[in-house]
Amino acid sequence: MTNSRWEIFLDGLVKRALFWSPFRSFLLYKYRYAFTPAQLARLTVLATEAAAAPGDFCEIGCYRGYTTVFLNKHLDVIAPAKRYWAIDTFGGFVPGDVAHELKARGKNSAEDRRALDKFTINSQFWFDCTMRLNGITRVVTQAVAVQDFSFPVSARFSFVLIDVDLYLPTQAALEKFWPHLSPGGVIVVDDCHEGHVYDGSRQAVNEFCAQHQLRFEVTETKLAVLRKV
Ligand SMILES: C[S@@+](CC[C@H](N)C(=O)[O-])C[C@H]1O[C@@H](n2cnc3c(N)ncnc32)[C@H](O)[C@@H]1O
Repeated sequence: MTNSRWEIFLDGLVKRALFWSPFRSFLLYKYRYAFTPAQLARLTVLATEAAAAPGDFCEIGCYRGYTTVFLNKHLDVIAPAKRYWAIDTFGGFVPGDVAHELKARGKNSAEDRRALDKFTINSQFWFDCTMRLNGITRVVTQAVAVQDFSFPVSARFSFVLIDVDLYLPTQAALEKFWPHLSPGGVIVVDDCHEGHVYDGSRQAVNEFCAQHQLRFEVTETKLAVLRKV
């Protein structure tokens, strides 16, 4: 349906007013991904590889849904029947997880503390609205700490993106999801470069893989990739 001249005129008027208002940032396009284009490209390739395996997709730590929308637009094309779980507290980090970073992992500089206080302005309702706005219907959201997330023993996953930044939730996610990953499936853990505030993810991957005698690779600087054969 085409817009009438009147609608186009009104649309232009509202947008010009927005531009000259304090709400300018809502009008202008901003790159919001926590991933570089090369990392998104790698995620796309890994998702395509994993989609051949049976089971659902899952993103643990989905924040406001930027990557969720991106990966679901890809699924629309390559595997529209897949289900996609999106798990988050939708309120930022869990106090016990932060306490562990501060006390046991020594992440207590002023800069660390700021990073450990992020992602609090969010809501499951906003997230679900974002999915609807983008025409995405396959995503099932769960507002829960990954440590408390439970699924049926019969659940199977083909692709799991773990993006919860800290040691304890990454460890819990690996322990919980690896046994349910189908052969041919892939787990990607974000933030697996050493020596930064969120390097608890890398510690959890190192320990998990050592304990279970698994190999992993780190690709595009910070994406740890675990494949189930
Ligand atoms: C880096 S953001 C995720 C970004 C998202 N994957 C994206 O690409 O747009 C980290 C998210 O992990 C969530 N989170 C942190 N600890 C968690 C936990 N224990 N269980 C579930 N979600 C958690 C936070 O609420 C936050 O939204």
